[in-house]
Amino acid sequence: MSSYAITGASKGIGQEFVRQLVADEANTVLAIVRNPTSGNISELASKHPNLHVIKGDVTDPQSILEAASAAAAITGGKLDVLIHNSNAVDMASMGSSPSQLPFDTQAIRDIFDPSISTGIYGGLWTTNAFLPLIEKGSQKKIVHISTAMADTTLIKNTGISYAVAYSVAKAGMNVQVAKYAAELAPKGIKVLALSPGWVDTWEGEKPAPVVQADEVMLKQFQSWDPECKGQILPEESVSKCLQVIEHLDAKDSGLLLSQNGDQLNWF
Ligand SMILES: NC(=O)c1ccc[n+]([C@@H]2O[C@H](COP(=O)([O-])OP(=O)(O)OC[C@H]3O[C@@H](n4cnc5c(N)ncnc54)[C@H](OP(=O)(O)O)[C@@H]3O)[C@@H](O)[C@H]2O)c1
Repeated sequence: MSSYAITGASKGIGQEFVRQLVADEANTVLAIVRNPTSGNISELASKHPNLHVIKGDVTDPQSILEAASAAAAITGGKLDVLIHNSNAVDMASMGSSPSQLPFDTQAIRDIFDPSISTGIYGGLWTTNAFLPLIEKGSQKKIVHISTAMADTTLIKNTGISYAVAYSVAKAGMNVQVAKYAAELAPKGIKVLALSPGWVDTWEGEKPAPVVQADEVMLKQFQSWDPECKGQILPEESVSKCLQVIEHLDAKDSGLLLSQNGDQLNWF
């Protein structure tokens, strides 16, 4: 019997974590979302008594503290696994390389803030808010969903120069994860940055520029791994991520791992 809290559970990979975890009735699953009444999550909760939907915005420290209090009231003050999955990006600048970014204070903040606020500040506030619960849990695992786009060897070998703010924020997340792992090791708490692979979470039909961008990315990813066929589905990504989380031990705490549990097979 395990308990899980997942941030950014309204859609995509976060929602898939919830879907797979609630299927085991012995699990208690806490889905943290900005809007508890929207989307499929409230419908899923109506079918699964072991799913609890909690309001929480990771970029608002008071909101995430209240979410942790609500979680503690449900679980009796403990939590086995925290998955910080929330993410936001400035889509308009995703295709730009660093030398193309503007010489303008506000414009540059608008580009970096969504990713840094969700990934780094959000990761820190979420971890700190839920830490007292994790300390009392039996598994003591904290997972931050990161990306191979923050792996410097991958960047160098594929030549991917775009997605600057997103990748920089996730690289910061990876270092923050390593710092938490160093701090929390004496308490037996494991902290992991986990890349879920290249996953199709687009809702609805993809516009032409997105399809074109996917084609460019596929070629670059194939220069790393010729076996990469394209995006995987959330089902496959999450079932592999859950295996990695299940096997997470002190040896891997502080690392960035792929959904395959290594630092090579990112796709
Ligand atoms: N998809 C991929 O190929 C891929 C690859 C590598 C890494 N990742 C990582 O995997 C994670 C999930 O990706 P995804 O594709 O499923 O993303 P997504 O579909 O864009 O979903 C992002 C989630 O984050 C939530 N969120 C945004 N801002 C938030 C905030 N301030 N507080 C709380 N939640 C917030 C969103 O909730 P709302 O509905 O409220 O906006 C949504 O549930 C992300 O960390 C992403 O960087 C994805």
